[in-house]
Amino acid sequence: MANRQPLIAGNWKLNGTRESVVELASAIASGAEGLSTEVLVCPVSVHLSDVLAVVGKSPVRLGAQNCAEAESGAYTGEVSATMLKEFACEYVIVGHSERRSLYHETSEQVAQKCLTVQKAGMTPILCVGETLEEREAEQVEAVIAAQLDAVLKVGNVEAFRQMVVAYEPVWAIGTGKTASPEEAQAVHALIREKISSLDPEIGSSLRILYGGSMKAENAASLLGQADIDGGLIGGAALDATSFLAICEAAASTVEKSAS
Ligand code: 13P
Repeated sequence: MANRQPLIAGNWKLNGTRESVVELASAIASGAEGLSTEVLVCPVSVHLSDVLAVVGKSPVRLGAQNCAEAESGAYTGEVSATMLKEFACEYVIVGHSERRSLYHETSEQVAQKCLTVQKAGMTPILCVGETLEEREAEQVEAVIAAQLDAVLKVGNVEAFRQMVVAYEPVWAIGTGKTASPEEAQAVHALIREKISSLDPEIGSSLRILYGGSMKAENAASLLGQADIDGGLIGGAALDATSFLAICEAAASTVEKSAS
């Protein structure tokens, strides 16, 4: 099995004040010291500078929640990938289901954003996932395949070399309903098989995160699955104790596999 370091990413969404995010980031930075897992926080863009001042010298990485497809120009209200890079962002969440559903981002736009993020020297966290309706209609595989195909079409399998995929079933986001470890693992395996069939090395080293009501109580069983390489956490990432408990659960999967 490829040696994939787990990644625990906090997607803070549209939350916090300058003061509260600094407090949260400081608590996470001190708790993440020495953990054998990668820890990432993704505040809103206007909080990046404050959060960077706190996590800059810690092991905690910084990421953004979205970026413009275009590199620059007349796009009022947008933030470009190169601007995010200037704030030491290493990752950008791309195609979150809230962006797809509330802001009507298409898979083609999402694919373009992945390339823009990579061109700026960062790693996209490409979110994919089905709605409850699609799951009930047994379309999970087709929906995920189409979301991945849009990226493959513009960037080929090579686009997945510097990429993290996050499987976030839409029905599990912010609902308290989590996919069971087996349900999640089945989709993660599908994603890996699809990429591996095109390039086994890229597929086996691709990190695939689970997102959707992951919390301290269910993290260990999800993270214990063969193809679940971390988590993209919403609600539980806003509380340092809960978030760090998930980071510790991820770190203990590394220690278990090393022993
Ligand atoms: P919750 O953890 O609040 O369900 O959110 C998941 C998510 O959307 C992370 O991007």
